Amino acid sequence: MSIQIADRVARLGTETAFAVSAEAAAFAARGNKIYPFHLGDMNIITPANIIEAAHKAMIDGKTGYCSNFGIAPLREALAADINASHTADYTIDNVAIQPGGKPVIGKFILAMMNPGDEVLYPNPGYPIYESMIEFHGGKALAYGYTEGEENYRIDIAGLRRLISPKTKLLIINDLQNPTGAECSDQEYDALRQIVLENDLTVLVDEAYFDIRYEGASRSFASLPDMAERCLILYTFAKKFAMTGWRLGAAVGPTEIVDVIAKLNVNDESCSNHFNQYGAIEALTGDQSGAETILEILKERRDVTVDGLNAIDGVHCFCPHATFYLFPNVTDLMKRRGFDDYDAFRRDALEATGVSFCTRLHFGRALPGETNRYIRFAYSGIDVPDIRDGLAKLKAYWDS
Ligand SMILES: Cc1ncc(COP(=O)(O)O)c(C=O)c1O
Repeated sequence: MSIQIADRVARLGTETAFAVSAEAAAFAARGNKIYPFHLGDMNIITPANIIEAAHKAMIDGKTGYCSNFGIAPLREALAADINASHTADYTIDNVAIQPGGKPVIGKFILAMMNPGDEVLYPNPGYPIYESMIEFHGGKALAYGYTEGEENYRIDIAGLRRLISPKTKLLIINDLQNPTGAECSDQEYDALRQIVLENDLTVLVDEAYFDIRYEGASRSFASLPDMAERCLILYTFAKKFAMTGWRLGAAVGPTEIVDVIAKLNVNDESCSNHFNQYGAIEALTGDQSGAETILEILKERRDVTVDGLNAIDGVHCFCPHATFYLFPNVTDLMKRRGFDDYDAFRRDALEATGVSFCTRLHFGRALPGETNRYIRFAYSGIDVPDIRDGLAKLKAYWDS
């Protein structure tokens, strides 16, 4: 007998950054020092008051199932938190707690996309969008970015050219992984016009909304007439260093949230019960832990940006949010005689122990794309190692 896997699995993508992790781990296992800039995980522990609240909930017996929507006090606290930061008007009915932010992507697509529908998504971007669109039988339309003066800009003209009568959904990841891009007022206006003209529903991925070092984050869902068309992906993972807790939420119109809660019943019944008490403490308790996390990340950003820009042939913007950098290395790759991204990445790893992702871990290169980029995440590496690793990289690449 031969096992016959279903045809749709051929369309299922993955996060190839995990393969970079495995390579880095194998390199470290051979006794080498590794400088991990590849994964968006965090080497910062969750603030103690949050851990204590979840622990207490366990001791208190919150160890059984709970509502498929999540526990009411958490949904209330999250609606209040988002209302304050977004100037919005959500209630408990607009919130369905999820086992992480990531599941919101697949569930939004399952809820809103018929096979054959077209979905606009960012590329370079989080690879799960394309994976879920194609897995569920949709057509993934990749829109790109261009280099602006201070950061990357969405290629609005290119995005417009992709739209057809079959285009139903738009995915926006403002404060973006991997570029750190942030929409300007003009980009927001243009995207809003596009949404209204083409009657689109929008997934607003706000995974990095609260990972901001200067200025204030804004939500596309808060623009006029957008709340009724936008589902927000919220996550506890980054702001409170809770990546392994697997806790997030879908926040938006009740019509969509109700379908997502029904998908919860089918997928996981409910999100982890006692963790949700930790999340209430995260939102409503002492905020000094979250503030410290931001301070740590900001220092890492500054050191990493400076270190990268000190290397000949590297140009790196300094984003105000996220914990990612997406330097342009076109000149560097040319100077060092590399055309192949993976060969370039492996060469640097072998020579210096510095591990990073490349543009291709965030989607196929778009037609006409000639510039070269790599991605550095500074969420999982301390400042002394950042300095040390980047000094080694500079010595190697400048040689
Ligand atoms: C853009 C983006 N969206 C969503 C997620 C999912 O986050 P989580 O499932 O850990 O909440 C991530 C994680 O890295 C991300 O980068």
